[in-house]
Amino acid sequence: MDIFEIESGGPLSGTVAISGSKNSALPILAAGILADGPSRIRNVPDLADIGHLAALMGDLGVPAVRQENGEMLVEVKDESNSHAAYDRVRKMRASICVLGPLLAKRRVAKVSMPGGCAIGSRPVDLHLRGLEALGATIELDGGDIIARADKLRGAEIFLGGPFGSTVLGTANVMCAATLAAGRTVIESAACEPEITDLAEYLNAMGAKVSHAGTPRIEIEGVKSLHGADHTVIPDRIEAGTFMIAGAITCGRVVLKNVRLDHLMGVVAMLRRIGVHVDRKGDAVVVWAEGAATPIDITTQPYPGFPTDLQAQMMSLLALAEGNSAIVEKIFPDRFMHVAELSRMGANIRKEGSVAIVTGVKELVGAPVMASDLRASAALVTAGLVARGQTTIRRVYHIDRGYEQIEVKLRALGAKIERRQE
Ligand code: EPU
Repeated sequence: MDIFEIESGGPLSGTVAISGSKNSALPILAAGILADGPSRIRNVPDLADIGHLAALMGDLGVPAVRQENGEMLVEVKDESNSHAAYDRVRKMRASICVLGPLLAKRRVAKVSMPGGCAIGSRPVDLHLRGLEALGATIELDGGDIIARADKLRGAEIFLGGPFGSTVLGTANVMCAATLAAGRTVIESAACEPEITDLAEYLNAMGAKVSHAGTPRIEIEGVKSLHGADHTVIPDRIEAGTFMIAGAITCGRVVLKNVRLDHLMGVVAMLRRIGVHVDRKGDAVVVWAEGAATPIDITTQPYPGFPTDLQAQMMSLLALAEGNSAIVEKIFPDRFMHVAELSRMGANIRKEGSVAIVTGVKELVGAPVMASDLRASAALVTAGLVARGQTTIRRVYHIDRGYEQIEVKLRALGAKIERRQE
């Protein structure tokens, strides 16, 4: 298995190109199931999770084949198998994003129920309730969700849950509604940029989706969808991670291929703790001069501060001059990184879904274990400045969502190597 070895280095400096968004590309590729004819999806990051979805799409008769220059071609070839089996879904719970497209196009979908993961229990009740509202019958058999509908009909659907809306649930219901008869209104829809991106692809395919990006999405059903060309938005979480990495080293990093408008909730917090973030033409420059000012942060649905940057921000605040409180409102158990950061000398006290971070003068390198994607990113970020050497095991977690993170960091001057254990 691969490990990362990181030596404490100086300030990061240079330019980094941000890849396409993983969380946009996944439901967009899955939406290719809906089309008659091929789609060309550009700016798809080359990540383990995209590979997992491509393998699943292959099983479902919809090969998603990587081309040159970050493009993927997706085309329905064979509709005879509509079963997303446990062996695929257990590798990536986001495989649930094929459920809505399969149901809409083939009238039947069998998708293994995703289990929990390191960040929490992660139910899919809202996805299922939304599809039922469109007329599907849902049963559970042998760990599989079986959704059937002779005909889907537009409906008014409320997708709010105890922790806000659901991103992939909104994607599933939106996809299913594109081919339903009549008009669907999704209330309390997720407003994340990844949903707007998916809606743009669906509309390029001939769908009639309006107001995506707001909590009330309207979809007028159409008879069929055709293939389309689409370019995936830049990954706002990768961009935020590099902003934090630049800041923790008191460096100066220029980010290219970044949508600052997708990052305002993050930028506002970074500025409040003393990190400079400025536009420079179509790039963004991030720099910091000293230890961060402490701050209280609550993770929220978009446009609030994203849960997917909570762990990385905790590394930065671990070195702030004072106490910060981080409240996790999306995944209340998403704190696996706390114990590992503590091994590196961070002073963090967790109470329920709140972490109190008392800034320390320095972090100290240690052997640590990656537990999930963003927790691993937090350990890498901390390792950049921790005195001595940090060894991170289980880096396959980070490969799920960051394209060549060690190569990009090395280009900025970081001392990070991938080795085989
Ligand atoms: N929830 C329910 N019922 C549901 C669905 C969700 O109660 O049916 C709850 C969840 O347990 C959670 C909250 O609602 O408390 C939000 O979950 P959501 O469904 O929005 O999460 P998701 O769609 O499964 C996506 C991203 C995650 C990101 C979350 C929140 C993808 C592939 N994944 O997950 O990304 O954290 O939205 O923004 O888009 C990551 O990239 O590291 C990652 C985990």
